[in-house]
Amino acid sequence: NQQSAVTQTAAKKTLPDAQTVTEVRHYTDDLFYFRTTRPQSLRFRSGEFVMIGLPGDDGKPIMRAYSIASPSWDDGLDFYSIKVQDGPLTSRLQHIKPGDEIILRPKPVGTLVLDALLPGKRLWFLATGTGIAPFASLMRDPETYEQYDEVIMMHTCRHVAELEFGRELVESLPEDPLIGEFVGDKLKYYPTTTREDFKTMGRVTDNLTSGKVFADLGLGTDKMDPAIDRAMICGSLAFNKDLMAILDGWGLREGANSEPAEYVVEKAFVG
Ligand code: A2P
Repeated sequence: NQQSAVTQTAAKKTLPDAQTVTEVRHYTDDLFYFRTTRPQSLRFRSGEFVMIGLPGDDGKPIMRAYSIASPSWDDGLDFYSIKVQDGPLTSRLQHIKPGDEIILRPKPVGTLVLDALLPGKRLWFLATGTGIAPFASLMRDPETYEQYDEVIMMHTCRHVAELEFGRELVESLPEDPLIGEFVGDKLKYYPTTTREDFKTMGRVTDNLTSGKVFADLGLGTDKMDPAIDRAMICGSLAFNKDLMAILDGWGLREGANSEPAEYVVEKAFVG
């Protein structure tokens, strides 16, 4: 009977801030995607992150920062994670299945938001590894395409299989019934590997400083211009630091929510 079904569902939610896992996809031994239900009260800006986790053995939650990889108009939440075999959270999180619950604190924050950038013409998304997660959200936000004429997604991983999550997403966008019209031909995708043969190779940093990416995409320049180029960076600490030095050298300045400028940075979170 319906009444008892409702009561049972309610009683099953034992965790505080519980959300239910609705889909899981494993990409490699080290990378997986999962989707959860979304709390009705959760409002966020594309590019922000939330704390998610699982109860530890002592009942105390083990929480980590995760970028929301889905757009704000979506009724579910996407996440993209590494698996760290001895990681306190991801050693367990990698085993979640549809129907399981995770803890999600509905307080989104972060600097990789369109509001933290001054108006521009060309927007660069620069990521390594799971650093593509916030851009999976931003690439599906109509605002991104309303504010910029051109959007370039550069993503570098060691191996080809690690690019798959991003490739699938990017290739689905032009045909997407909700966002396809906004994307049009504005989105350029530049995936590269560094340790396995691929059609395009090399670090994001090297492909920017050598001018290769500008030439390959036919941009008619060999560097960014602070008057028109805006950038968002999400990778390891070393990656972020090296890129900031390059952008600083081209005259772009780091911005924040409180003081928008030409680029913003966030560390890709690890488990
Ligand atoms: P590389 O293979 O040349 O080290 P990791 O798995 O170590 O986080 O690296 C993910 C990707 O980011 C790899 O392709 C790696 O290239 C690249 N990478 C690592 N550190 C930097 C850096 N400081 N600048 C640019 N790319 C980097």
